[in-house]
Amino acid sequence: MANPHIDSLKQRRTQYALGKSLPLSQEAVTALVQDAVKHSPSSFNSQSSRAVILYGAQSLAFWDLVKDALRKVVPAENFAQTEQKIDSFAAGAGTILFYEDQDVVKSLQEKFALYADNFPVWSEQASGMAQLSVWTALANAGIGASLQHYNPLPDAAAAAKWDLPASWKLRAQMPFGSNEAPFGEKSFMDDAERFRVFS
Ligand SMILES: Cc1cc2nc3c(=O)[nH]c(=O)nc-3n(C[C@H](O)[C@H](O)[C@H](O)COP(=O)(O)O)c2cc1C
Repeated sequence: MANPHIDSLKQRRTQYALGKSLPLSQEAVTALVQDAVKHSPSSFNSQSSRAVILYGAQSLAFWDLVKDALRKVVPAENFAQTEQKIDSFAAGAGTILFYEDQDVVKSLQEKFALYADNFPVWSEQASGMAQLSVWTALANAGIGASLQHYNPLPDAAAAAKWDLPASWKLRAQMPFGSNEAPFGEKSFMDDAERFRVFS
C-alpha cells in the first residue's frame, strides 16, 4: 500500500558526495530542520534535543575543528586519508549538530526518581528520532546528508566557538548539501528473520 511517509523513509539514504547548492533557501532549510526536531517525540515531552545549524563558512569552521582534534590522535601517515574524508563532509552546504541538553535529563531524574536510569537512554532515543526526522525531511526536499560521530573530539572547541551551554552534549553531526552522486546499493535482511507477526 502506498504511503507518503514510507516513501520519504525510502528516499532517505546516506550521501557522502555532497555539493554546495541547495534546492531551497537557507531560511527554508532552517525551518525544515527546526520543524523536524520540534515535532519529534521525546520522553515526557521533555524536548531535550537541541540543534545547531551551520552554513557555509560556519560549517567549514566546524570541520576544521574536527580536523584539528583528529590531527592529535590519528597517526601522521594516515592523516591524509582522514583529511580527505573530513573534506568530503566540508564540501556540503552545511552541517547540523545534534545535541541533548543534560540539564533536562538531570531535572527529569530528580523529578521522577523511579525512572532515573531510563532518562539518559530515552534522551539518546529522542536524539535518534530527531536525527531521523531531519534526515528524512532533508531527503524529501532533495537534499543529501550523512550521519557522523566525531564527538567527543570537537565538543569543547565547538562549544567555545558558538558559545553553547555547557549542558549541551554533542551526539551526532549531519553534513548536508546537494546530491553529487547516485546512492550506493543497499541490501536488506530477510523479513522472516526480522519480524514475527501473531494474529
Ligand atoms: C545510529 C547510527 C549511527 C551511524 N553512524 C554513522 C557514522 O558514524 N558514520 C557514517 O558514515 N554513517 C553512519 N551511519 C549511517 C549508516 O551507516 C547508514 O544509515 C546505513 O549503512 C544504511 O545506509 P543508508 O543510510 O543509505 O540507508 C549511522 C547510522 C545510524 C542509524
